[in-house]
Amino acid sequence: MKASAPAKIILFGEHAVVYKKHALVTAVNLRCYAEAKKSSNFRIISPLGVTSLDFEVHPWISCAIKNFIKVKPINGVEIKIESEIPIASGLGSSAAVTVSVLKALDAEFETNLTNEEIYELAKKVEIDVQSIGSGTDPFISTFGGIWLIPERKKLNFKEFEILVIDTKEKSITADMVKKVAELRNKYPEIVDSIFDAIDGITLRAAKMFDEKIENEKISELAFLNQCLLKAIGVSNRKIDSIVENLCKQGIAAKLTGAGGGGCVIAFGNVKSANFENSFIVKPEREGVRLEE
Ligand code: MEV
Repeated sequence: MKASAPAKIILFGEHAVVYKKHALVTAVNLRCYAEAKKSSNFRIISPLGVTSLDFEVHPWISCAIKNFIKVKPINGVEIKIESEIPIASGLGSSAAVTVSVLKALDAEFETNLTNEEIYELAKKVEIDVQSIGSGTDPFISTFGGIWLIPERKKLNFKEFEILVIDTKEKSITADMVKKVAELRNKYPEIVDSIFDAIDGITLRAAKMFDEKIENEKISELAFLNQCLLKAIGVSNRKIDSIVENLCKQGIAAKLTGAGGGGCVIAFGNVKSANFENSFIVKPEREGVRLEE
């Protein structure tokens, strides 16, 4: 059986959400496809290679299978992955692969898991692989749509365009989350004030995304969020130079996801932007689903 799950984009609030502040997140129209076929042994076929259960090459898929085995003991399965989502770029490719694999396993072995149960398993996989995480990525990949986290407020669905510029530098979530945790251990009251400020920005933006998007104000909020992400050390030179370049074209931008590489996003009148390694994505209503 074949399943797919969407990528996600954190519009506002990454990192702060790890400390129970708000994040505004949307699923986007790039998907990861996973096919599960009963087999007498374990085989994983993906753009990263062909392996058995392998926690180095395929940590997310191997952990997804390991957690699924706790629900239904199986002696083997062949998993085949095809993905439209750039890897380690802040767009939630790990969560999308995990969620789509779990849904494909559920269908192939007829375990009738609800999407809530698939999400719970995917959240366990996130903790198994990177020891830390807010569960935001697997949540959005499972349920689709535009959400305010952590209270799970589903916002009115809107069509808008998000410009994504891939720095082509890898973003390793666990490393970046640890880096922020170290800074917070050193300067708790300062870093917590920054998180409070990010929280305020996210709540203002969420209100606008739920009601009427005002491009100028959203751009100002994106600029403020980016400055605060830079303050906690998750921007880098490439991100800064892309943000600055877009700023010269009159477009406000910020990093998305864990940072330290990965992607920069911009909203508003982004059609005019001229950038290499860039593409436009749109919010996606549908979360994980079975494919024909
Ligand atoms: C990663 O996409 C977003 C972070 O906030 C980590 C998390 O929420 O688990 C950096």
